[in-house]
Amino acid sequence: MAKPEKAFFCGECGARYPKWLGRCEDCGQWNTITEDVTVGGKAKPSCNSMELQSLAASSEKTNRRLSGLDEFDRVLGGGIVPGSVILVGGDPGVGKSTLLLQTAAALSQDGGCVYVSGEESSEQIRLRAARLGVSESGVKLACETDADVIVNSMGKGVKFLVVDSVQTLQSAEAESIPGTVSQVRACAHRLINFAKTTGAAVFLIGHVTKDGLIAGPKILEHMVDVVLYFEGERGNSYRILRSVKNRYGPCDELGIFEMRQTGLAGVSNPSALFLTHREDDVPGSVVFSGVEGTRPILVEVQALVSGSYFTSPRRTVVGWDVNRLFTILAVLESKCKISFSNKDVCLNIAGGLKISEPAGDLAVAVSILSAGSGRAVPNGTCVFGEIGLTGEIRSVSRCSERLKEAEKLGFKNVIMPASCDFPKNAGGSMKIEKVKNLIEAVALLGMRRI
Ligand code: TYD
Ligand code: MG
Repeated sequence: MAKPEKAFFCGECGARYPKWLGRCEDCGQWNTITEDVTVGGKAKPSCNSMELQSLAASSEKTNRRLSGLDEFDRVLGGGIVPGSVILVGGDPGVGKSTLLLQTAAALSQDGGCVYVSGEESSEQIRLRAARLGVSESGVKLACETDADVIVNSMGKGVKFLVVDSVQTLQSAEAESIPGTVSQVRACAHRLINFAKTTGAAVFLIGHVTKDGLIAGPKILEHMVDVVLYFEGERGNSYRILRSVKNRYGPCDELGIFEMRQTGLAGVSNPSALFLTHREDDVPGSVVFSGVEGTRPILVEVQALVSGSYFTSPRRTVVGWDVNRLFTILAVLESKCKISFSNKDVCLNIAGGLKISEPAGDLAVAVSILSAGSGRAVPNGTCVFGEIGLTGEIRSVSRCSERLKEAEKLGFKNVIMPASCDFPKNAGGSMKIEKVKNLIEAVALLGMRRI
C-alpha cells in the first residue's frame, strides 16, 4: 500500500494544500483548513483492462422499492432504487434518526434491513423504537463506528443499510480522527462500494454545519446518488424533506411531515396545513399558489412595512431570497413610483417553507403593497406570477395545476399573468383576473397609497 502523507484540507470544499492557510483559496471560507493524512505516493500502473458495454438498458426493469411512507417515496422520485446511496442531512434534533428508523421499520417486512448507529446506544434506539411502535419490526440493530467492520458484517441478504451518522465513522484506510475530511470521504467510499457491489440501498445520515451545508467535504454530495435535506423550525412541528440532488428522479421535490408524540406522520394535504393559521382581511397577507417539486402548494406570504429609524432601512426575509426582494422593491419604485426608501420591510413565508420559484414575485409585491397601504387583499384571493425588471408580469409554468389547487381549497379569485396559457376549465368557477404589468396589478387592488 502507498505511504501515508500529510497534507492540509479544507473542511468545506475538500481542497488540498501543502501548507496551512487561514482562508481557503477555493471556497473562500476562513479557518476551515486542517491537517490531515492522505494515502499518496506513486502507485504502479494497473495492467487490467475494462469491459465496454452498450447503452441499451438491460431487459430487467429497475425495481424501485416503496417504503410505504408516501412522503419519503415521493421525495425519492417514486421509491428506493436498489444499490443507491442516499445522504440525509439536517440540523441536530430535527428528526433524522426518527425518520430513518421509521423508514427502516417500514422496509423490514421481508428482512434484510440493518440500522447501525455510531451516536446512540442500543438502549436509546430501542426506547425510540418503542415510542414509534416499531419494536416488533424486523430491523437488525448494531452500534459501531468502524466502516470496515460494518461492511464486513453485512451478510448476503442485506437490502437496506442505515448508518447514523457518516461523521462518526472511521476506517483504517484513512489515518486521521473521525469527522475529518479524509475519514468521511474514505468511509463514504467504503459504503458506496458496498452499495454498488451488492445492490443494497445505503442511507447515510449527515450533520450540517452552521451554514446549513452537510458537514465534511462538499465532495460527499458528489459521491452519493441522492442528497436530501431535512428541515424544520424550532417550536414548529412541521418538517420538510427536500431533495437537492437525485440521480434517479426529479430534484426540488418536497415531502412534508408532522412530528408527533409517536413519530413522523406524512402530511398529504400541505396547502390546507400552511393556510390553517391564516386570518382573512389582514393587510400584508396574501396567498401564493406555488408549485414545489411535482405538486402545487398554497402558502401564505406575509409582509410588514413600517417607518424606518435607520439611515439604510432594513429588509428582513424568512423563506425567500433577499436579493429578489430588493429587485421587487426597485421595480415598485421605478415603474409604479411607490417608494419604500424610508420604510423597513419584513417578509415571511408562513409555515417554514422556503420558496425559490420566481412565480412568487407577484405575491410578494402584493403583500408588500397591501402592508404598506393598509388595505387587505380581498378574501378568497390567490396570486402568482413572475415580475420582470421592466415591471411586466411574466408567465409561469404549471398554471392549470396552480388553478386547480386554488379551486380545490375554495378560493374565489386568482390574480395571474395575462400571458399564461391554460385549458378553459382549469379555473372552474373562479374569477380569473389577468394582469400584464405591475401597474395593472396595483390599480386592480387599489393599493397606490403607501
Ligand atoms: P432525532 O430523530 O433524534 O433527531 P436527529 O437525529 O436529527 O438529531 O429527533 C429528536 C427530536 O424529535 C426530539 O426533540 C424529540 C422529537 N421526537 C418527537 O417529537 N416524537 C417522537 O416520536 C420522537 C422519536 C422524537
Ligand atoms: Mg440522530
